[in-house]
Amino acid sequence: MTVTVVTGSASGIGAAIRDQLVQAGHRVIGIDRQNAEITADLSTADGRQAAVEAALRACEGRLDGLVCCAGLGPTASSSSLIVSVNYFGMTELVNGLTPALARGTAPAILLIGSVASVHPGMDKLPMVTAMLNDDEAGARSQADAMGATQAAYAGSKYAVTVFARRQAVVLGPRGIRINVLAPGAVDTPLLQASLADARYGEAVRNFVAPVGRNAAPAEIAGMACFLQSAQASFVHGTVVFVDGGMDAMTRSDRF
Ligand code: NAI
Repeated sequence: MTVTVVTGSASGIGAAIRDQLVQAGHRVIGIDRQNAEITADLSTADGRQAAVEAALRACEGRLDGLVCCAGLGPTASSSSLIVSVNYFGMTELVNGLTPALARGTAPAILLIGSVASVHPGMDKLPMVTAMLNDDEAGARSQADAMGATQAAYAGSKYAVTVFARRQAVVLGPRGIRINVLAPGAVDTPLLQASLADARYGEAVRNFVAPVGRNAAPAEIAGMACFLQSAQASFVHGTVVFVDGGMDAMTRSDRF
């Protein structure tokens, strides 16, 4: 049976991915702050290390899939927390579980990015440079100095996408695929928190995808399951937008 680790498996998109992978016959090892096979806090280095060790024990050192979904939105309590969970909570899981994936069958990694990652100027942010240099302390202090959680969110999603594309070159020869799925607005507790926020609510409400509605988590999970499946065996190092046309609407001449 295919064994897949899913972070953020207790809620929203991660829970929907978990359900569809189980329906497709995977054994899922969920990681989350609560209601998961492995309870861990991915915001700290110790929590991430404990999560990796518990996952390696649960899969007995051999893994076929990893889906990193755990993340915080712009309403999180600080920019540094967003950086730690959204970037290091994904990259350290990839790095820690790669040896087990290398022993798996047709192994595949999927990172959940965001349509927010294409906001202009992300590549110029000092916090992004620090993330890509694997400097968590530097990235956290740069993010807090900027003092804009929305920028920390978009920057973390841009950085994790660059990380994945760089890893594609390293992991491809080892037989491990890696891709990014970039959702638009999806009806989950994370989006509800943004809608209810005095700073962001109106902008989120006004930014409507061309299809005229938000996604249900299951619509994101369908693409995630495809990307993790044998049918996607030549899909590697790419970013798939599942956003109802948001990316096409904002930058139709760039792809
Ligand atoms: P959600 O809030 O429903 O689920 C996020 C999950 O991550 C929760 O179960 C939460 O406990 C877990 N998590 C958060 N911090 C954690 C920590 N320190 N340690 C362990 N687990 C932690 O949110 P949603 O919407 O399902 O988000 C999933 C992913 O999708 C996130 O990476 C988010 O950035 C991304 N996304 C969501 C969009 C949306 O409109 N909902 C749009 C684009 C991307």
